[in-house]
Amino acid sequence: MSVAIRTRQLTKRFGKLVAVSDLDLTIPTGSIFGFIGPNGAGKTTTLRMLAGLLDPTEGEIELAGESITRNPDAARWLVGYMPDFFGVYEDMKVWEYLDFFARCYRLSPQRRRRVVNELLELVDLAHKRDDFVEHLSRGMRQRLCLAHVLVHDPPILLLDEPASGLDPRARVEMRELLKELGKLKKTIVISSHILSELAELCDTVGIIEKGRLVAAGTVEEVAALARGGRVVRVRLLDASTTRPAALQLLKPYQGVVEVFEDSEGDVVEFVFDGDDVALAALLRHLVTHNVPVISFSSEHTDLEDLFLRLTKGEVQ
Ligand SMILES: Nc1ncnc2c1ncn2[C@@H]1O[C@H](COP(=O)(O)OP(=O)(O)OP(=O)(O)O)[C@@H](O)[C@H]1O
Ligand SMILES: [Mg+2]
Repeated sequence: MSVAIRTRQLTKRFGKLVAVSDLDLTIPTGSIFGFIGPNGAGKTTTLRMLAGLLDPTEGEIELAGESITRNPDAARWLVGYMPDFFGVYEDMKVWEYLDFFARCYRLSPQRRRRVVNELLELVDLAHKRDDFVEHLSRGMRQRLCLAHVLVHDPPILLLDEPASGLDPRARVEMRELLKELGKLKKTIVISSHILSELAELCDTVGIIEKGRLVAAGTVEEVAALARGGRVVRVRLLDASTTRPAALQLLKPYQGVVEVFEDSEGDVVEFVFDGDDVALAALLRHLVTHNVPVISFSSEHTDLEDLFLRLTKGEVQ
């Protein structure tokens, strides 16, 4: 699997406030990742760090295998970042606005002309090319902003609430546009505080609250976790040799929703949807099949409430 974005223990503190805490993200190339959390959860802070605009307090970021922490300039070419609030250059015409950013990326005049035309077509603003930016509607400005972040054809797009402030129709249009971009094999991260808005568009989602990633996976996996599933941690003796057998037993076992293959060291983690009796039977199943379990623990998640609020869009 080729990885577009990987963070390790990414942390940002503002004085005493921990805005992002120990964030481990792995986002495969070409996927559309929904980054979901309530106001103040740390979405914008994370996206700004990924875009190379904000230095992490601790931790590592790799984009397409390149360390941004060591080489922040690399982000400029790899990433198109659409901020949640944008200053537009209001006294420019629509085409001039895009042309201006194409110049910033030192595109040749010929290429600029082609790119500006193609992008205006893509975001459906060709008919507005000679209008002033200040005369565009909010939805049109948002689409122009999206065109702007595509000027240098970056493989990774970081979009901070691209549909905020849009009416329902404009939201649908934005979603269709993002689907088109997904087809171009770009890796896209979209933040939002409403899960249902992203469910259809995204192949994976991560839910962040108070700077911590509380769940990640497909929408179905995260939903299963929120339905009262619990995360079970099993420590194994001599894990390097005994782990495959444990995984083989766990994966088909009834009630096992998801096994986290990437859990580290001697631990195997999985989501289990079942009561205590079922959980005790599972432990017996492992042990009678000679899996050397050293410790076995389970935690209920507090996700359900958060998840319900996020799906209903109550969190504003
Ligand atoms: N430059 C800064 N200085 C101090 N605190 C900051 C700064 N930027 C963000 N914060 C704080 O960090 C926390 C996370 O903020 P962030 O903007 O990342 O949240 P968010 O998930 O994007 O929220 P929203 O949905 O409202 O956009 C908040 O408590 C915020 O007040
Ligand atoms: Mg934000």
